[in-house]
Amino acid sequence: MVRLHINIDHVATLRNARGTLYPDPILAAGLCELAGADGITAHLREDRRHMRDGDIERLRAALTTVLNLEMAATDEMLAIAERVRPDVITLVPERREELTTEGGLDVLATRRAVEKVATRAAASGIRLSLFIAADAQQIEASRELGAQQIELHTGEYAHAHGAARAEALSRLARGARLARKLGLEVAAGHGLTRANVGAITAISEIEELNIGHAVIGDAVLVGLERAVRDMRAAMERGVAARPRGAVA
Ligand code: PXP
Repeated sequence: MVRLHINIDHVATLRNARGTLYPDPILAAGLCELAGADGITAHLREDRRHMRDGDIERLRAALTTVLNLEMAATDEMLAIAERVRPDVITLVPERREELTTEGGLDVLATRRAVEKVATRAAASGIRLSLFIAADAQQIEASRELGAQQIELHTGEYAHAHGAARAEALSRLARGARLARKLGLEVAAGHGLTRANVGAITAISEIEELNIGHAVIGDAVLVGLERAVRDMRAAMERGVAARPRGAVA
């Protein structure tokens, strides 16, 4: 089974839009767990546009599954991670002007910062995942720098059509194969919906997905529990299409 981690940032986005205490992202996280999510993902941004420091602390105390903290490779975030101790840190690139995380982390260009996080995360017993494009150099560098996992950026696949989508999908499949060959665990995420997730879970090496916007969007209409369960069902249809005898 492919693990499903729900990103609850957009519950906080809705709360912050009115400066209220509701809807509470921690309550939402608990409901996701009840609906069968294998973990909860939250991105603490430098500008705190959705999750806030106190949310991450409350999540740490409340979750019964896994807390995956998405963050930039900065000293401020590293200090928070060392204090709160998520199960996993996922390093992401961050730009203030962006609407969402637009591309993968350039592990080669940020080698020193990534190395620092890798060393300190290991000392704190926190797993490290790097959110990168399906590029051989980025994957190899992730392994060298001591990440246990990579998360492949699926945004290009999700937003492309026709031949461009097929090409993006085969790049993801090649990247997943290489990463697994190097001993990395392979996650994926960004822009995934019930309609496009099956082709991703059909890639045998993919073990985890991080999905946020589409599930929270569905939840507004059909409720959070059903939105999580419907996403899981769409993922399982892809898993059923994996070639026989494949890994995982
Ligand atoms: N994975 C990572 C590393 C992300 O930064 C995001 C977006 O915050 C997601 C997954 C989830 O993307 P989406 O909200 O499009 O499902």
